[in-house]
Amino acid sequence: MLPRSLHTERLRLEAIVPEHADGLWRAIRASLPELRRFMAWAPSASSANSRAFAEVMSRRWQEVTEWTFTIFHSDEPAGTISLSAYQSLFGLAEIGYWLRSDLAGRGLMTEAARAVADFGFDEIRLHRLELRAAVDNAASIRIAEKLGFTREGLLREASWAERGYLDLYIYGLLAEQRGWRQN
Ligand SMILES: CC(C)(COP(=O)(O)OP(=O)(O)OC[C@H]1O[C@@H](n2cnc3c(N)ncnc32)[C@H](O)[C@@H]1OP(=O)(O)O)[C@@H](O)C(=O)NCCC(=O)NCCS
Repeated sequence: MLPRSLHTERLRLEAIVPEHADGLWRAIRASLPELRRFMAWAPSASSANSRAFAEVMSRRWQEVTEWTFTIFHSDEPAGTISLSAYQSLFGLAEIGYWLRSDLAGRGLMTEAARAVADFGFDEIRLHRLELRAAVDNAASIRIAEKLGFTREGLLREASWAERGYLDLYIYGLLAEQRGWRQN
């Protein structure tokens, strides 16, 4: 049985359920300028889409195919962090995240990503975790570096945001590599 909540020094991560949708929509609404720079879903974000996302991701937990946590800060939903694109045959998944803008720059997503990477390796028994970050997403690149990921290449126009197609760096972290993390 996989744990459905993770605790870090400052955050509580809970397996997403539909009841989180309204709080997540409030956090999205408060962060749209930043989210629109990098997230393809941001321009069409809405209360209804947040609910649909929470419902789908809640089912994926039950199907053991994808793991999205709602990030709680001061008991308020403040973002999400996911392990997606899971390949059970060879233990591969990708980590992705966003956080309410007023909480950025305090090391919170580094804290959450470390806990979810541990969940992936220890509970799902991943062999390899991938992270994709736009080449101009300095904060996400820094998170990858702090968690000990290796930059492995450049994916041309592999994502999209309102400003156009985005080139992404692809990072990989292997189970055996985890000890290399910086603080
Ligand atoms: C990216 C995001 C998740 C970062 O969350 P966060 O909690 O602010 O991240 P942290 O504070 O844990 O770490 C960010 C690191 O990047 C650094 N950083 C932030 N902005 C930076 C910038 N413009 N230039 C250089 N470094 C920057 C911070 O200083 C910090 O590094 P440090 O601990 O060495 O000082 C958040 O800004 C966000 O949700 N952005 C919009 C959505 C998004 O881009 N998601 C990721 C898609 S791959």
